[in-house]
Amino acid sequence: MQSKWTAERIKHLKGTCKISCLTAYDYTTAKLVDAAGIHVALVGDSLANTMLGHANTLSVTMEQMLHHTTAVAQGITTALIVADMPFMSYQISTEQALENAGRFLKEAGADAVKIEGGAFRAQTVATLVANGIPVLGHIGLTPQSIRQTGYKVQGRQNASAKRLISDAKALEAAGVFGIVVECVPAKLGAAITKAVHVPTIGIGAGPGCDGQVLVTHDLLGLSGNTAPRFVKQYVNLEEHMVKAFKEYKADVESGRFPTTKQCY
Ligand code: KIV
Repeated sequence: MQSKWTAERIKHLKGTCKISCLTAYDYTTAKLVDAAGIHVALVGDSLANTMLGHANTLSVTMEQMLHHTTAVAQGITTALIVADMPFMSYQISTEQALENAGRFLKEAGADAVKIEGGAFRAQTVATLVANGIPVLGHIGLTPQSIRQTGYKVQGRQNASAKRLISDAKALEAAGVFGIVVECVPAKLGAAITKAVHVPTIGIGAGPGCDGQVLVTHDLLGLSGNTAPRFVKQYVNLEEHMVKAFKEYKADVESGRFPTTKQCY
């Protein structure tokens, strides 16, 4: 049986095998992600969209993230559980970041946290790591900054590409065990991957990254027509679920459910 993944072991997968990461926000999905042998279960703040119906990730709270992380932790035996730190839970001060990151490990059963930002976040990362909290970085398109950047591919210009490479190096020096690289040209994804010794986990960053992450709802076809171009949809669960719900409705209305089989 596969033993539990630690941040340190994930870090050392660089160059040996590609790392798989999927989002999970609840116990049942976490169990299935774990059963599939996925390396990292990310309790992404994308749950603001997928679970709570918000237009972006900005409004999700610490309490909501802790609630979902606790549920995920109940379903995981081997995957590394990474909890996303929500907007304004780590930006105000390193003390605030340390206190909130600690809550994910102490109260919710996370193994690590993810925070968005590059070189300017290095001090925060170093403080968390020094206090025993593994950190996954996140650069490129950082959805908590959409009010500044919008949802668009980052690092297309030479200067911004160079900045992202130095951001990745600064995060590595600060002690991250890996870096999510979101929505950058594939060439830059590969260049960032080459520039650091920690694994990069790409989302819309091309095949040159050390691993890939997707929002599970996108992969399962549960995001309607809103999934971005970088998503590969493996099944149309939306179709299957609506079909099952319709069949159930028809059975209830016609009296085909319940039958004696479902009766005591
Ligand atoms: O919140 C999330 O799901 C994420 C991934 C898209 C990396 O941050």
